[in-house]
Formats: sequence, C-alpha cells, structure tokens
Amino acid sequence: MAPRKIAAGNWKMNGDLAALAQLDALAGAVDGRCQVVICPPALLIHPMSSKSVPGIEVGGQDCHAKASGANTGDLAAAQLRDAGATHVILGHSERRADHGETDADVSAKAVAAHQAGLVTIICVGETEGQRDGGDTLQVISQQLAGSVPDCATAENTVIAYEPVWAIGTGRTPTDDQIAEVHARIRADLSKRFADGADMALLYGGSVKAANAAQIFAIADVNGALVGGASLKAEDFAPIIAALAAA
Ligand code: 13P
Repeated sequence: MAPRKIAAGNWKMNGDLAALAQLDALAGAVDGRCQVVICPPALLIHPMSSKSVPGIEVGGQDCHAKASGANTGDLAAAQLRDAGATHVILGHSERRADHGETDADVSAKAVAAHQAGLVTIICVGETEGQRDGGDTLQVISQQLAGSVPDCATAENTVIAYEPVWAIGTGRTPTDDQIAEVHARIRADLSKRFADGADMALLYGGSVKAANAAQIFAIADVNGALVGGASLKAEDFAPIIAALAAA
C-alpha cells in the first residue's frame, strides 16, 4: 500500500455557519483522486458533516485524552466522532505554544482518538530558533517519538510537518529542507512501525495554489495541511487539483 494522498484544511478559529457554503463551491473540485478533510471550529463539525458533501470528510482540531468527565470546555474524541468527524488534528504548534501541550499530552490524546475511531493528524515542527541552531532533525525526531503512540498505524495516523516559522507567514522552506525533514520522518516511522512506510506525511505552512504543485513533487510529501488557503473554495480547490495530479 502506498501512502494515501490527503489535502487537509485547518480552519483554526475562523468560519461560521455561513462559511459552510464554501463546501458547495468546493464540491466540484473533489473527484476522489485524493482524500479531502476539512477541520473547522468544533461548533461547525456537526453542521458540516450533516451537509454530507461527497468526498469531503470532517475533522476536529483537538480532543481531550479522557473519554468523559469534569473537563470544562474540552471535547472528548468520541464526541467529535458522534458529531460526524472522522479525523482530528493533534499537537498543532499553536496548541503546543498557547496551551502548553507536551509530546506526552499529544500521545495520550492520540490514543483516545484512535480508541474512538478517529484518524489522527499529528503535527510536528521546529521553531525558527531551532532551525537556526541546527537542531531541526533532532527536534522532529524527538517530537515524533513522544507524540506518536505505539497504537499508530498507516490507517489511523497521518503526520504533518509544519515548521512553526512557515505558518501564516508566507515563507516556506526550500524543497531540499522539506525533503530532508520528510525523509527523517519516514525513516523514523519505518524503523518503529511495521507499516511506517505507508503512513501519509503532509507538509503544512503557507501552502497555496502557487506553490502546491512544487511541494507535492517533493519525495515523501503525500499532501498538505493548509491553513489560510483552505478557508475559501477558490483558494483550496487548486491545491486539491495539484495534489490529485501529483
Ligand atoms: P497556513 O497555511 O495559514 O500557513 O497555516 C498552516 C497551518 O498551521 C495548518 O495547520
């Protein structure tokens, strides 16, 4: 099995019920040649999944490690599943930075998500300081080792490499920099998991229509986790098309 191709959109804290109309506009761009997942704010998961747009799956942006309990403001993985989500993003750098999430937290959340039947999109990525210090590959390996649980398989886990300094900045790494990190991720996963060679690896950070085809041509890049350019169908559709053609 070759890794599947996935165009994932992370709407972050953007969008409202009116924004669901973007899915109708996107429907024509989805032809089954790659998987398409949109992760809206949690309140929009159920209305989005209820639209049942063929070929578009829905995901959460975080979940709690526990199945239920006294955790005000949090969401359990099974609740995301119940609302129609099939995927959940975990360990995004914004959650690591804003909510102090550790690798161990991310791993525990991933276990809970897998138990609930969700596919996890687990994020790793270095800061600009770590890259400048020559620590990128070590940071990535450490995050992977700590954030990806032993129950991960090519079916239930997708890895997203998102350099923190490339998110929302319009700056992207060179092709060689992306290739180097993705090769490291592939090597680490292949060493640890029997089906590590088949896990989908996404690149994220300032992906847009203008650079998508070039990024998708890089070895071991099986898709993208897209922020800003996933909000509007006119921006996301050409990225999906570039991945389908890759
Ligand atoms: P941008 O595509 O807006 O840079 O965001 C990337 C990201 O963080 C997706 O999770």
